[in-house]
Amino acid sequence: MLEPVFRLTQVGNTHPRNSEGETLGDNIPLGRMFINDEMREVVSDVLDSGRWIKGPHSKAFGAEWAAYCGALAGTPCSNGSTALIAALRLLDVGYGDEVIVPSHTFIASATCIDQVGATPVFVDVEEEYHTLCPDEVEKAITDATKAIIAVHLYGQPISSRVFEIAKNHNIPLIEDSAQAHGAELNGQRIGSIGDLATFSFFPSKNMAVGGDGGSILANREDLADKISMAIDHGRLDKYRHDFLGSNFRLSEMQCAVGRVQLKHLDDWVARRNEIAARYNEAFSSLEWTNPPAIREGALHAWHQYVLRVDNRDEFQAHMDEQGVSTGIHYPIPCHLQPLYESHTQHRQGALPITEAICESVVSIPVHPHLSDDEVDQVISAVKSFQP
Ligand SMILES: Cc1ncc(COP(=O)(O)O)c(C=O)c1O
Repeated sequence: MLEPVFRLTQVGNTHPRNSEGETLGDNIPLGRMFINDEMREVVSDVLDSGRWIKGPHSKAFGAEWAAYCGALAGTPCSNGSTALIAALRLLDVGYGDEVIVPSHTFIASATCIDQVGATPVFVDVEEEYHTLCPDEVEKAITDATKAIIAVHLYGQPISSRVFEIAKNHNIPLIEDSAQAHGAELNGQRIGSIGDLATFSFFPSKNMAVGGDGGSILANREDLADKISMAIDHGRLDKYRHDFLGSNFRLSEMQCAVGRVQLKHLDDWVARRNEIAARYNEAFSSLEWTNPPAIREGALHAWHQYVLRVDNRDEFQAHMDEQGVSTGIHYPIPCHLQPLYESHTQHRQGALPITEAICESVVSIPVHPHLSDDEVDQVISAVKSFQP
């Protein structure tokens, strides 16, 4: 039997709420909060210090997060959505430009492009891995392509071919790593490969900061100094503004919380992998679904463990009866969202793999605070489903 890295009794104060703050019923939830005494102490210290923004924790968290990921430079920022907007601005993306992005992702990966006045060009994903299809990326490149936003969805690193294509075409690539803290591709940490990388520390993510939060990492010398300016009105000096930025800063208290959480990230990713390995083994003999694939050379961060089930509604009802929560990430592809009604790709059939995926994906709990008994319960619940 596998020894859990965490038992609930060791988690500190595990509140009866999920990671989005909703009160839990009796079901095994999709996420649980991690709150410990060290987090309480640092928050209290920062509060008493009166240094609530732009203090030592912001600097240290930016540097520690960049060092963890193996990036050249890093800055905390207010959330994963503003991180993407700031990253596009840093690459000078604006009106008339096109940005390639998967449609199978959380909406923020796409709307950041509209926020800077550019146009998202939605591209289909690889059916096996749920991430950008390299051939489709290559086909979508035009003279107007100014950047690629590649999403390591569910914690699965994208194909290394997408990085190569971006390089060959001299197009900057932003790794949207909001779901991939601690993932690796061919020995390199996610966040250290693209020109820029963005992260979200939203409470349900693989690590959190006690509220909304995010980060931008840079892997190019010419961008390294600018990332912290982009989240602070384009300035280094108080009253001198070198380029268009905004206030996308993260508070000192949250940076201090992030530094504590970072100490646990490797254990959490290891535990997620342990649970995913148990699921993969248990589900490999099922005829009505396949365990999710892991890309060769990748360390998956397992932000979500996602099965594909044809009769998803029945499956979700069954899991609920068995006391297990499920989720759908995501039921509507970006290109079919009402918000993109006037987009040229807003039609059924535009991205067939993405559309089929969105109709059948269902996420089951894989967070590191599951006990072994709960993992067993999830496995029996899935295996007892009669499609
Ligand atoms: C892939 C992806 N990109 C961007 C974001 C946006 O991050 P935030 O919610 O911190 O703004 C998220 C958040 O769920 C995400 O999953």
